[in-house]
Amino acid sequence: MTTTTQFGSQGWTPERLGSLQGKTYVITGANTGAGFEATRSLLTKGAKVVMMNRNAEKSAAAIETLKQEFGNDADVNFVRLDLAVLDSVRHAASELLDTVPQIDALICNAAIAQVAKQELTVDGFESQLGVNHFGHFLLCGLLFDRIERSRGRIVVVGSNAYKMGLKKIQFEDLNFDQNYTAWNAYAQSKLAQMMFAYELQRRVKAAGKHVQVRVCHPGASRTNLLNDTASLPMKLLWKLTSPFIAQSAEKGSWPEVMCATEESLKPQALYGPTKRAETVGPIGECPLEPLALNQEAATQLWSLSERNYAVSA
Ligand SMILES: NC(=O)c1ccc[n+]([C@@H]2O[C@H](COP(=O)([O-])OP(=O)(O)OC[C@H]3O[C@@H](n4cnc5c(N)ncnc54)[C@H](OP(=O)(O)O)[C@@H]3O)[C@@H](O)[C@H]2O)c1
Repeated sequence: MTTTTQFGSQGWTPERLGSLQGKTYVITGANTGAGFEATRSLLTKGAKVVMMNRNAEKSAAAIETLKQEFGNDADVNFVRLDLAVLDSVRHAASELLDTVPQIDALICNAAIAQVAKQELTVDGFESQLGVNHFGHFLLCGLLFDRIERSRGRIVVVGSNAYKMGLKKIQFEDLNFDQNYTAWNAYAQSKLAQMMFAYELQRRVKAAGKHVQVRVCHPGASRTNLLNDTASLPMKLLWKLTSPFIAQSAEKGSWPEVMCATEESLKPQALYGPTKRAETVGPIGECPLEPLALNQEAATQLWSLSERNYAVSA
């Protein structure tokens, strides 16, 4: 498939956003990077935004910055969520359900990437798979009924990395105990997130439910993604090259804002920047490699994701 954009030569931009008064968006990892910029775009149009972040101080600082920009009445707050700890996901979901009656979209944006050495979460998962996939899988499950009642959406923020690395879920050694590399483990986690999203679409359709699931990626964007976790050489490489090969965090946020708000999007599609190997450029539909639509692997991944929760609950 060639890369196309249905929104003209400029692609999708936030100029397409109408009023979002009365809408509520929940975004994971919104204190910085693409999640923060998505929050800004949504607040600009009068939406309520609930950020689900792991760090209270950074969240308070982000909210202060947003209130300086949009005024004290800006409807933005945060719920503490650490996707690396399944108990934290349960507590956060419960707090959210107690306080937020409507969810027009849950944007699964938070992630860690390129973790230099193998690390395990407290629940025993390789850290990128644990945070990026297992944490969000549980969160989506716990919030699903509220999203369904709101006729809302789930937006999964993937990555071009899904088609790099091993290009598969390494079921025989999910934690990479034998062959850990930062790239392969990150790529697996993003493939897992995307496989989950397309499997969820299939299950929602089969069950006659009303949740839309949309998948996007931010291309290459200048954010904090590699700051904490990547190896020194990787950080240096990114510092040297990102001014030339990457776009702003704001542009990186557009695909997720589009997927949360735009009506005319398709399931079984991937949206993001469409130029220079889908790293920058106008936002539209990108080629989607069949490996992300592998139903057999997706079913296996779903089963073991559910089993993990039963064990850790
Ligand atoms: N930037 C790129 O070029 C690029 C390329 C492809 C895909 N992506 C994807 O884009 C999305 C946004 O990333 P970004 O580039 O904006 O990175 P970022 O600036 O590092 O933002 C990531 C966010 O996730 C949060 N987070 C990390 N671990 C968490 C945890 N255990 N629980 C809850 N929140 C956690 C971070 O919180 P802290 O501030 O506390 O660390 C931060 O708010 C990610 O899904 C990433 O995989 C980015």
